[in-house]
Amino acid sequence: MKLLVIGSGGREHAIAKKLKKSPKVHSVYCLPGNPGMKRDGIETAAIEQDDHKSLIEFAKNHKVAWTIIGPEVPLFNGLADAFEAEGLKVFGPSQAATQIEASKRFAKQLMTQQRIPTADYQTFTDYETAKAYLAEQGAPIVIKADGLAAGKGVVVAETAAEAQTALKEMMQDNKFGDSSASVVIEECLIGEEFSLMAFVNGDQIYPMPISQDHKRLLEQDKGPNTGGMGAYAPVRHIPEATVDAAIEKILVPAAKGMSAKGAPFKGILYAGIIATDEGPKTIEFNARFGDPETQVVLNRLESDLAEVITSVLEGKEPELKWKQEGIDLGVVVAAKGYPEAYEKEIPLDLTASESVELFFAGVTERNQQLVSNGGRIYLAAAAGETIEAAQSLIYDWLNQNDKQQLIYRKDIGDKAKQKNCK
Ligand code: AMP
Ligand code: GLY
Repeated sequence: MKLLVIGSGGREHAIAKKLKKSPKVHSVYCLPGNPGMKRDGIETAAIEQDDHKSLIEFAKNHKVAWTIIGPEVPLFNGLADAFEAEGLKVFGPSQAATQIEASKRFAKQLMTQQRIPTADYQTFTDYETAKAYLAEQGAPIVIKADGLAAGKGVVVAETAAEAQTALKEMMQDNKFGDSSASVVIEECLIGEEFSLMAFVNGDQIYPMPISQDHKRLLEQDKGPNTGGMGAYAPVRHIPEATVDAAIEKILVPAAKGMSAKGAPFKGILYAGIIATDEGPKTIEFNARFGDPETQVVLNRLESDLAEVITSVLEGKEPELKWKQEGIDLGVVVAAKGYPEAYEKEIPLDLTASESVELFFAGVTERNQQLVSNGGRIYLAAAAGETIEAAQSLIYDWLNQNDKQQLIYRKDIGDKAKQKNCK
């Protein structure tokens, strides 16, 4: 069979590469993809993710069995609906179901209706009212732009002054345009964060092993939030009982709630969760695979991803076998300046390695040479028996490939080490 992946980042590289391993898969296309993917035999073409007509034409012409949509923006723009209207199979939620990610207000309402544990919150569309509420609440406190903001529309304010600045930037200076015209202000949850993803079709839910992202730019979780600077899976120091509770109290009621609202969810449902003293609480839902979590979680899947998704699409139970031993780790390499304005056109002559796998994101080609053209450029991944072993493989390789214009965190996975965890 031939399969199509929509998107161009490291997540889509990981999905396409895993699909390509299936003996049943003949070709994997990624649109628009990036030149780094071609090294793994993934076929790309310059069709942008907002060009619904050309994407549909491509899927028809190439007789793809089904399509998976990686990023949130095309989902939000109704790409899955457009494919289905043409009779094309797609593993990704409808525009209506994507609200679970695209509107924090919608997600909060769903959580209230379904009694899904989450932080206490209020939503605001008026700046003065929000400002007064902040003054009353004090810090720490969390301010979130209502709409999509590429993972950057959340400020965890440690002080009241920081909170007021963030609010002003969002509501008065329109930092995220329409996305921040409305904001959610919520209680700051204390505890460790983890990501839980599942293959979902209606009320059927098949969870993956949990992972941990590193959202802050700087070591020891300092600096601004980013799209994610690294990840590892599994997270063994989070007890199994917490994960089971998260599946039962968060994922299951979320999927059921979407069906009840007449917007059944099909695709990957992602919950960002904090393990608080009162149990797991939800901080966000995403309507898609996480980036960079996918790059490490899919490497733990021993079953055939193409078969898994085919089964879920057909409403059948998939065969899901996950690697039990060791750890998978990934470190994101970004351009200096990210997540604000960053350098571009950084040449990337990277040494090949048997133990370090690269998933490309913000790259393009100049004279057949790979150069950077995005903030997050690539993720270097490795598997090890322990966190230390995986870290050594990656950081030794990164040392050899170090470039002054590049940045990466040197502490990805350290949290698991501190817990004496393998
Ligand atoms: P989000 O885009 O909603 O995932 O938020 C980005 C990051 O902000 C999360 O990964 C958390 O680290 C942090 N965060 C969001 N909401 C809360 C909260 N209520 N309490 C503490 N931290 C939060
Ligand atoms: N890693 C978080 C996200 O994909 O939104």
